[in-house]
Amino acid sequence: MSIVKINAVTVPKDKQERFEERFRGRAGAVETTPGFEWFELLRPVEGTDQYLVYTRWTTVEDYEAWQSSQDFDRAHDGGGDTLASAAPHSAHVWTYEVLEYAGPKANQAGQA
Ligand code: HEM
Repeated sequence: MSIVKINAVTVPKDKQERFEERFRGRAGAVETTPGFEWFELLRPVEGTDQYLVYTRWTTVEDYEAWQSSQDFDRAHDGGGDTLASAAPHSAHVWTYEVLEYAGPKANQAGQA
């Protein structure tokens, strides 16, 4: 059963452009991490002002290993620019288990 870790970040309007820009220049190291399955950066359009950084992992240990790794630190050092300058007002990490998933028929569907 895969697990999902979502970082929910509230970014003030005047910092959103900078926040997104930083993600465009992100390290790209997470893709090569053992147990990594998926990443999406979700921009709020309606109903909330929280960006969601969605990540899915084979096991919670895989996520924890990445989170305590140098790759995580490097991915968040902002290249000399501090996280504060992206000015996340608040960030919360939510944890979910994947109970079911589906894609288009051609890509198969199933249970986690
Ligand atoms: C206060 C906490 C956090 C803030 C403000 C934050 C913000 C950011 C920012 C601005 C970037 C773009 C790279 C950079 O400029 O540094 C980034 C990268 C990333 N963040 Fe976070 N982050 C936080 C914690 C987390 C957590 C707990 C997760 C786990 C779900 C996460 C997942 C990611 C991923 C997957 C990337 C891309 C890494 C890569 O490309 O290798 N972040 N984050």
